[in-house]
Amino acid sequence: VESLKQAFEGKFYIGTALNLNQIWERDPAADKLIKSQFNSIVAENSMKSMHLQPQEGKFNFKDADKFVAYGEANNMFLIGHTLIWHSQAPSWFFKNEKGEEVSKEVLIERMRNHITAVVSRYKGRIKGWDVVNEAILDDGSWRKSKFYNIIGEEFIELAFKFAHAADPDAELYYNDYSMALEGRRNSVVKMIKNLKSKGIKISAIGMQGHLSLDFPKVEEFEKSILAFAAEGVKVMITEMDITVLPMPNRNIGAQVESNFAYKKEMNPYEDGLPKDKQTIFEKRYLDFFKLFLKHEDKISRVTVWGVTDADSWRNNWPMPGRTDYALLFDRQYNAKPVVKQIYRFGSS
Ligand code: G3I
Repeated sequence: VESLKQAFEGKFYIGTALNLNQIWERDPAADKLIKSQFNSIVAENSMKSMHLQPQEGKFNFKDADKFVAYGEANNMFLIGHTLIWHSQAPSWFFKNEKGEEVSKEVLIERMRNHITAVVSRYKGRIKGWDVVNEAILDDGSWRKSKFYNIIGEEFIELAFKFAHAADPDAELYYNDYSMALEGRRNSVVKMIKNLKSKGIKISAIGMQGHLSLDFPKVEEFEKSILAFAAEGVKVMITEMDITVLPMPNRNIGAQVESNFAYKKEMNPYEDGLPKDKQTIFEKRYLDFFKLFLKHEDKISRVTVWGVTDADSWRNNWPMPGRTDYALLFDRQYNAKPVVKQIYRFGSS
């Protein structure tokens, strides 16, 4: 076995996110890697509402069209990310021409128009949509987003209904991070039950896999896989990466930008990742892939959030200019040692 897609054939799709610059165009080495390793792709940024509808009624499908054409040309399972998300939504979405907050009715119409235009454009081509992204907080309460504040929790079911109407065959997902936390797990279970009790289609839960070297525990992540699958939906591991960098434990703000010592503390591995960290990192990836394989009957896709370490958003968050090592391929496009082990486990 020489690739991830071979390793998991017949088990689950293995995907990657492609960034806004649509890396295959400017980067033949990345193009080769993407084609040889992955059989599913998702656009990291270019299908967010801010990019697709920067002004009301003025759609910009240029990057999204290229992404879809690339996926089709390479026979990949295409994921759309994301229809309704509080972040990266254009500011006009929530305001009228006087700059005041729109009414519930207007916001619902805008949701309907956006979802209908986007989903119908790629009907039958994009196979699954992250319909709603990140609507629940760590403690399980609703995120007080504009969507929630103006419409109420009903915005979730409306989004799923609009998406289903635009492409009845598309799979529809709810996607969120830190899904191993008990609060979020329980609320997502409630959400699935609620949608199902109303006859609204939900196909899978996307568990974003933004992990670190010590969070979350594999067992907590597993509990969530089991809890979601028990509700009769598939589970997808979306947005996987494992940061090796320390998390800031104080308020990041202007003072940080100018604080050299803090920057150094937050970016300790500019010259390379120390061996001990590398070992923990490799074990972490392996442990999680073993977990996914254990539950391959419940999991339909695992997607990593970028191709090489150089592409990862982790290098720019929570401040730009960090050097992270979060993905499976290094900055020279080489598979990290753990990839060979993943091949072996995947195909055994
Ligand atoms: O394209 C502009 C560029 O022209 C400009 O010079 C530069 C200066 O800041 O910004 C560039 O846009 C950035 C974009 O990524 C492309 O690199 C945005 O500022 C930046 O906010 C954006 O970050 C993305 C983030 O979502 C916010 O949309 C990350 O790439 C992307 O990895 C991240 O992905 C999210 C998922 O969608 C949802 N789950 C969490 C995940 C990680 O935050």
